[in-house]
Amino acid sequence: MLMQSALVALGATLAAAVPTLVAKDNYFVNPKTGNRFQIVGVAYQPGGSSGYDATAPDPLSQKDICLRDAAILQVLGVNAIRVYNLNPDQNHDECATIFNSAGMYMILDVNSPLVGEALTSDKPWESYYASYLNRTFAVVEAFKNYPNTLAFFSGNEVINDIGTGATVPPYARAVTRDLKNYVAKHSERPIPVGYSAADVRDVLFDTFNYFQCAEDGKADDPSRADIFALNSYSWCGDSSFKTSGYDKLVEGFKDSSVPVFYSEYGCNTPSPRIFSEVASIYGPEMTDVFSGGVVYEYTQEANNYGLVNISSDGSIILRSDYFALQGQYAKLDFTKVQGAKPPTATAPKPPTCTSKLITTKGFNNNFTIPALPPELRRSSRRPVSNPDGSVLKGLEVKVLAADEINSPGTNKADGVASPTNGNSTTTAPDGKPKNAGARPVAIVLPALAMGAFAFLAGFAI
Ligand SMILES: *[C@@H]1O[C@H](CO)[C@@H](O)[C@H](O)[C@H]1NC(C)=O
Ligand SMILES: *[C@@H]1O[C@H](CO)[C@@H](O)[C@H](O)[C@H]1NC(C)=O
Ligand SMILES: *[C@@H]1O[C@H](CO)[C@@H](O)[C@H](O)[C@H]1NC(C)=O
Ligand SMILES: *[C@@H]1O[C@H](CO)[C@@H](O)[C@H](O)[C@H]1NC(C)=O
Repeated sequence: MLMQSALVALGATLAAAVPTLVAKDNYFVNPKTGNRFQIVGVAYQPGGSSGYDATAPDPLSQKDICLRDAAILQVLGVNAIRVYNLNPDQNHDECATIFNSAGMYMILDVNSPLVGEALTSDKPWESYYASYLNRTFAVVEAFKNYPNTLAFFSGNEVINDIGTGATVPPYARAVTRDLKNYVAKHSERPIPVGYSAADVRDVLFDTFNYFQCAEDGKADDPSRADIFALNSYSWCGDSSFKTSGYDKLVEGFKDSSVPVFYSEYGCNTPSPRIFSEVASIYGPEMTDVFSGGVVYEYTQEANNYGLVNISSDGSIILRSDYFALQGQYAKLDFTKVQGAKPPTATAPKPPTCTSKLITTKGFNNNFTIPALPPELRRSSRRPVSNPDGSVLKGLEVKVLAADEINSPGTNKADGVASPTNGNSTTTAPDGKPKNAGARPVAIVLPALAMGAFAFLAGFAI
């Protein structure tokens, strides 16, 4: 029944679409109304992350399933889904349109549990390489044109204790930078990129500051996160703002320079859940600081957090958690929740990245982050030679600063011939300068190298 009516509704309103949101200072803003936007979201990964498989359909690639679930989520009242694991090589047009038409944004992780498709907590330096980044760029490429793509997460809970806090931050910030550069170069609109943190209080605020700080406090620092989110399970059962420690979160994030929200919430002990935290999240205690949150999660999996139970034949049973959440939403006036104007006061500035910002001993306080891997900077894997046969060294696409435009003479490679006479400035193996006379420099790439170049032109940043 639900699916039938969804199909009919979709046919009638195919042109309907949510307004594309922007992250402005520490809030999401709906440019159509000028109001702040509160995320009322649900995590959507049927089968769970462990069920992700590159050869199977991902959560946003099957129209009938998206129609079924969008209808159920729409009735629940949510305005966003978070999807963790996506296959950039599949087609997402129909599902993105379905969720868009259903009035829902998509918050998307760029990683997967497969080897080589995420930064690892253990020895992160071994997982930061070109083909991994290529995957993350491919996810951006696959979703950047949908108007309801709200944000990308560069990582999820990669930092979860002091040990990982010592090693992971520079790599996680580097992935954030690479994604932001990719978006800046290839997307027609700015799409925020940020990090989804584990709510481990020992390292939470150091993690937050590591991501939100900026070189010299400049908000346009290309490696600074645009948003910050946390997976928080500290409100369990019939708790309160204080007992749950939500008060400490509001205190800790109150001067944030970027939007902050729960990328997961919904402690399941005791079970079934009553979701009394909803009143707090969308009430006056929190909305000045937080921009809502995402309930974990849509489907019932082995870990027992489901709002619905999906049987093997695809039929669905709504669980009591679904109704409890719906009941909590129903107590709120969402016209009011979504009706707040951003404050007119000057937004908080990002703190400057310095070691003093980090308060926990052992947490990384070095803001020198790794460079983009060389394979994504080199313009061609084939040698490029001068007319005299000498090979250019160090030829690569250099990552320019934000707003910088390339201009003659600023980016050099070793051994490039003089532009006026084609003579190489390097020496031949015999130690004597090699000259080929005055000829124009023409670099003719074989077809294969052109293919490699086109690939890199698509993905290199
Ligand atoms: C880069 O990603 C695209 C899209 O997923 C994939 O088709 C391609 O094989 C990847 N290339 C490399 C070198 O990893
Ligand atoms: C939920 O679905 C599973 C199969 O996926 C089934 O074993 C279980 O009995 C279902 N639970 C309920 C309450 O329907
Ligand atoms: C910071 O990290 C960079 C890169 O790993 C390293 O070269 C530098 O020595 C570190 N600085 C300090 C003060 O440890
Ligand atoms: C370039 O090489 C040619 C041939 O060896 C030589 O005659 C000429 O002087 C060179 N020009 C410069 C500017 O070095």
